[in-house]
Amino acid sequence: MFGINNAIDKALNAYEKGEYEKSYALCCELLKSDSQNTCVLITIGNIFYMQNKYAEAVKYYEKAIDVDSKNYSALINLANSCYEIKQFSKAIRYAKIASEIYPKEKLSYTIMGNSYSELEGYEASINCFMKALSIDPYDAWLYNYISQSYQKNGNYKASLKNAWKAVQLGSEIENAHHINLGYLFYEIGTEKGLDSIKECVALWYKNYGQNPIVSYMCKALVGSKKVSQAEQEYVEDIFDIFAPDFESVLASLDYQAPRLIEEMLSNIYQQQRGEKLRILDLGCGTGLCGKFLQKYAKPKGLEGVDLSAKMLEEAERKKVYYNLVQEDINSYLTQNTKLYDLMVSSDVFTYFGRLDELFENINKNLENNGRLIFSISENNQDKNNYTLHPSGRFLHNINYVKNMLEKNGFQMEKTAHEKLRNEGEKKVMGYIISAKKIS
Ligand SMILES: C[S@@+](CC[C@H](N)C(=O)[O-])C[C@H]1O[C@@H](n2cnc3c(N)ncnc32)[C@H](O)[C@@H]1O
Repeated sequence: MFGINNAIDKALNAYEKGEYEKSYALCCELLKSDSQNTCVLITIGNIFYMQNKYAEAVKYYEKAIDVDSKNYSALINLANSCYEIKQFSKAIRYAKIASEIYPKEKLSYTIMGNSYSELEGYEASINCFMKALSIDPYDAWLYNYISQSYQKNGNYKASLKNAWKAVQLGSEIENAHHINLGYLFYEIGTEKGLDSIKECVALWYKNYGQNPIVSYMCKALVGSKKVSQAEQEYVEDIFDIFAPDFESVLASLDYQAPRLIEEMLSNIYQQQRGEKLRILDLGCGTGLCGKFLQKYAKPKGLEGVDLSAKMLEEAERKKVYYNLVQEDINSYLTQNTKLYDLMVSSDVFTYFGRLDELFENINKNLENNGRLIFSISENNQDKNNYTLHPSGRFLHNINYVKNMLEKNGFQMEKTAHEKLRNEGEKKVMGYIISAKKIS
């Protein structure tokens, strides 16, 4: 008995230290003599969970429940894993059993709430979050979730009230609550007109304007003309939050920019049979461009730079980039000493208003006759060179882009006027541009 406990302790110890392979091996050894040991089964489930292998985790939590149907840890972890693999009804079923075992534990209600919300059962989801709030009335995330359920249900007033509460209760580093509030303002402004949110935005700015993310979002919402680039902290935070769902959300918006860039690339380089390139993907994100850039790149010749660590984690998984760097594009380019044959940038310059510094830096890092192929969103709002849209994205005038390219040693080679993606019922139009370095 002492021997088994000692072995379980070792496996748990290794798990706690993040030594998952070692812990897994010890657990498997233990299962040989006691295949019904719930602690070991749950630990294996946890090992898979921590490595984002949720379907595998589910199998082991289910085995633990077969042995002990009232095991709270197995049930709650199983509910969480089912949620992660989008088996929402199953997640609700197990979270409900867990809530009956520990009715004073908010997590089971939170999982149920989020699962109902995914199934578009917004009333049920709000009820579950309310139950969780009755256990912990100071949980900012619960207010955030309630706000999102009300928003999806079209009840903007209740959504705003709860989003505001989340902001008030959230710690200073929890920018996610501010971002949620900002997007809510954007959605209401788009639907009911920006005047309808003016006062609320002013209040938000008055209370939290020292936070760079709030300051940037407020400036975008009121159409400030003084901003020339998105705040780095804003870009980092929104894309860190967005990263796990980026590709599925963008697919649902019929995101075309990478495909259009690929098309232009293949038109240009079809002549150059066999000659491989050193390529830099500027703002590579999750690596949607990397997938097709690989075939044009020299061995070890494809690199990416991006501000968001979480987007880069997704890109890393594609195993197509030789090198990925987490940095602002301009600071990377000012320190880099290598020269590239091609730089590509898909849906990234929309976070820059002014383009002169960017184009100057790109030029310095390109070989003679090297190319820059990129997308921009079209400024169809006013006659300005660029304008900051309430969404926090910049729209550019094509003549301004051309001038900036020419001023910085490029010749605009090809342009294609295209739909880049949808936003609601509208098309977001823009340009795919190829520019060649001539001086
Ligand atoms: C809309 S995503 C596009 C990602 C990818 N290029 C694609 O088409 O799927 C914009 C990306 O640009 C990155 N980004 C924006 N501004 C940046 C900057 N100043 N420096 C580095 N990356 C930036 C963001 O972090 C984000 O990953």
